Amino acid sequence: MSQAVGTTLSLKDYLQQQQASEQLQSVLFSLTEACHSIHHALTKGALAGVLGAAGAENVQGEDQKKLDVIANDLIKDSLGKNPSVRGLASEEEPEIVACQTDGQYLVTFDPLDGSSNIDINSMVGTIFSILESRGEHAATEQDFLQPGRQQVAAGYVLYGPSTMLALSVGNGVVMFTLDPSNGDYLLTNNAVTIPEDAKEFAINMSNQRFWHPAMQRYIAELLEGAEGPRGKDFNMRWVAAMVADVHRILCRGGLFTYPWDSRKPDQAGKLRLMYEANPMGFLVEQAGGEVWTAAGKILDIQPEHIHQRVPVILGAKNEVLRCVEYHGNA
Ligand code: AHG
Ligand code: MN
Ligand code: MN
Ligand code: MN
Repeated sequence: MSQAVGTTLSLKDYLQQQQASEQLQSVLFSLTEACHSIHHALTKGALAGVLGAAGAENVQGEDQKKLDVIANDLIKDSLGKNPSVRGLASEEEPEIVACQTDGQYLVTFDPLDGSSNIDINSMVGTIFSILESRGEHAATEQDFLQPGRQQVAAGYVLYGPSTMLALSVGNGVVMFTLDPSNGDYLLTNNAVTIPEDAKEFAINMSNQRFWHPAMQRYIAELLEGAEGPRGKDFNMRWVAAMVADVHRILCRGGLFTYPWDSRKPDQAGKLRLMYEANPMGFLVEQAGGEVWTAAGKILDIQPEHIHQRVPVILGAKNEVLRCVEYHGNA
């Protein structure tokens, strides 16, 4: 649940209060400035000719939208100019990009999350994760392969009716609302927490027949409602943009899952560990929620490559642990 505050505390004020290093602050400003530009590109939409397909496929095997490419280039350019950035990795870039050899941070990002929503003028977001860089060499892919537990900061920007930044620097989760007239992000939620119990869940039900039997059982029991073993009714929501679905969970609780799918056993689901599961997982744990695959906590996974995928079960503690327990690993 998020607690609304009437305040004019800016992102800069907040980061100073948190004693974030100058370098970390500057990386966050590079990201949030780029997101302000993405906000404007999204707002103009068809008037700026930015809708539709880019005509290329990304390394994930997905058709890129023009806005996937525009958002990627805006963030890449902004981070590339920052002396504190050692390297970056993006959902839309086949390889990592080495930046300043003496930069202190590595940044991974999903420039535009939920991009199938672009052409229906619905919610999308940007997700980012910040890791410490090590040694004194140009960034390599190996440098990025750190468990999510080691993130220094993570967050997302949700482009909805208002544009909001959710952020954790490892001391809880806060939310800011963008003033598009001047680019200021002002604190509007200062204590985001996820209740342990839930009555709402988020899953793409059309894939039901491809789920693991344990997930089939867990969701079937939710659907049985008050007459079933759970003894209460559950509501369902699915925006098809992880940022928006997780934002709802941070605001009013619930469970979100993009589970293992029998069509892609080697790929272990759809969501990407380093651009989606880890940064969103960092926020959810910082808000008191749980973040698992069927086999363990996502933030403890040792990544093997930057584009790896992972099944995701996150949100309300008691629901996530029950779902994991059904898989036989709790
Ligand atoms: P992206 O647009 O960055 O590729 O991510 C889309 C992801 C995620 O945001 C969302 O939860 C999921 O895809 C939706 O998948 P379905 O279309 O299968 O529902
Ligand atoms: Mn994509
Ligand atoms: Mn995404
Ligand atoms: Mn994306």
